[in-house]
Order: sequence, then C-alpha cells, then structure tokens
Amino acid sequence: MYILQPKHYRIIVLEKRKEVYITRRIPEPAFSMLASRYHVLVHDDRRPPTRQELKRDVRNKSGILCTLSDRIDKELMCQAGPNLKVISSYSTGHDHIDIPEATKRLIAVATTGDVLAEATADLTFALILAISRKLVQADRYLRTGSWKEGWSPDLFLGYDVYGSTLGIIGLGRIGLAVAQRARGFKMNIIYHNRNRIDAKLESKAGVKYVGMNELIESSDFLTIHASLNKDSFHIIDSHKLRKMKKNAFLVNTARGAMVKESDLAEALQNGWIAGAALDTYGHEPLKRSNRLVSLSNVILLPHIGSATFNTRRNMSRVAAQNLINVLEGIPPIYPVNIYRHVSGRYQGTKD
Ligand code: DGY
Repeated sequence: MYILQPKHYRIIVLEKRKEVYITRRIPEPAFSMLASRYHVLVHDDRRPPTRQELKRDVRNKSGILCTLSDRIDKELMCQAGPNLKVISSYSTGHDHIDIPEATKRLIAVATTGDVLAEATADLTFALILAISRKLVQADRYLRTGSWKEGWSPDLFLGYDVYGSTLGIIGLGRIGLAVAQRARGFKMNIIYHNRNRIDAKLESKAGVKYVGMNELIESSDFLTIHASLNKDSFHIIDSHKLRKMKKNAFLVNTARGAMVKESDLAEALQNGWIAGAALDTYGHEPLKRSNRLVSLSNVILLPHIGSATFNTRRNMSRVAAQNLINVLEGIPPIYPVNIYRHVSGRYQGTKD
C-alpha cells in the first residue's frame, strides 16, 4: 500500500534585512551580534561622527547604537525617517537624547543601565584617595626631579579618608556602589536624593538621608552620582561651594554640566574648598585654555569612569541586545521610555 504524501510547498519570503547604524568604533561583541541579523553601517573611527555625517548616516535606519557624544534630537530623528524604532546608547546617561521626542515618535530608547556601576565607583574612590593624598602632584614632583631631601616630615601632607564624612548626591546604583566602598573606610555616609530611598535599604547601605544644605555643609568629600536634567544642571555653583568646608573635596564622575566650572575654578583658586577631582565636563573634550587646567588642586581625567576592558565589553553586549530586543519586538534590558509591547505598538514610559 502506498500512502500518497501531499506535496509540500514552502513559501520563502525574502524579507529585506533591517539596517542599523553604530556611530563609533566600539569593542565587540556589538558588531558581531548585530551583523548576524542586520545590515550594519559603522562609523569606524575613534572620533565621533560630525553632525553632517550623523545626519547622512542615520537615514532609513531601523536602529541606532550611539554614544554619549552624539546629540540625538528631533532633527536627527526626522532625518532617520519612519523606520527608526530604537535608539540604544552605549552609555548609562541619556541626556544626549531627546527622550520626549523619541517617545512621541514611539521610538524606544535604551541604555547600558547598571553595567558600569562598579567600574565607575572604583574610579570615584580612586579620585577620592588621589585628591586627598595629593598623589598626582607627588608623582609629578618626583618625576620632575624635585625630590632632593629624601623623606620629609611635611612632604605632601594630605587629609584622612578613613573616618571622614562622605556626602553623595544621587544614591542610585553607582552611589550605592561608592557607599559600599566607603564603608570599608569607616566613613560616615550621608546622601541626598530627589526621593529618599527605602529605610531598609538605607540601613543595609549604612547611609543617612539629609537635606541638601546639610549635605553640602557637612561633607569632607562630596561626590556627584545624579543624572543630568534641568533640575540638576549647575547644581554645584558658587552659592553651594561657599557653603562647603574649607578642607572639603568635590568629586564628579557623573555629568560635567552639574558643576558650574567657572564657579568651581574660583572656589579652588580662592581656597573656598581644598580641591576637586573631575572625570567629566560641561563640554568635552575640555579645552586646555579652561581655567581649571592651570590649577594644581584639581585632578582632571578624560571621562574614563567606565573604562575597563570588562565593563566596556559588557556595555557593548547590552547595547546590542537592547537594540535587537526592540527590533525583535521585546522590551530592551534597560529601557528609558517605551518598554511595553502591546498589540504591535510600544506604549508606556518608565519615568
Ligand atoms: C555613561 O555611560 O554615561 C558614562 O558616562 C560613560 O562612561
């Protein structure tokens, strides 16, 4: 007996591959992850694309994997056109993206979220130690041949980190990771947030909530870990700097625009505070002509808070996965705005 098999017809729909754009040369695996699914255009350079290049290269893309150097605003979203479904930033900060505009256009925005918290907390602590114990100045002193007398009773006297008061502006994941390190130094940890965190979490983290004035006036080290928005822009200005202790230090590894740099330069020059250590600036790269560059009681780093091999690899993986998720119709790992997939349309905002 023969069983007649019905004929099978396979209909192959050749779907055009989506196009995505990576705006900078970034560590793997982002490129491999995306190139196995989409046509990928990469701005394969260490420098960011110019505005013109960005505008040219976003055209018709379904996804953009950008960095914090790229301003992604309404003009750019218009330029990209209606295919654009996701902007995934290779960063935790998202102040370079116009979120309301993206939301209006149902474009999902995602970031690398928590993955850089530990690396950034490490760098923050390195800065706290380096500025209070004058490590950079001492290193320069030796290299330039100034160390002539050997050990000396008053050479590079600094300030104690152990047992001092740490003030944290913005107690998110990075702030908490800094607090964890500070506990090892038996620091008295106080913080100020827009919203006070849960009492259980406060006691677990060993932190005490105080008002902004108390935070400013009582901290030996004041460190910023808030995100940049219109309320936090220039949150540290001459008014607050004048209220700080004369032997206090300001540390910023968040966004430069939260500190009014001209006021900080004045504070450092006139001894309102003992010193500062910065990783970020209002305009990057910081110009050599900036007044801060000529001052010796400030450490200036070129925005390297998350710059470890491991963290940058993780950021790459998460940024690519965020983009893929959205294009495949599922929420990104770290959504900023739209994150629920309801009947083929994205709805809802997180903030
Ligand atoms: C971020 O991700 O926002 C950092 O500033 C980049 O290191």
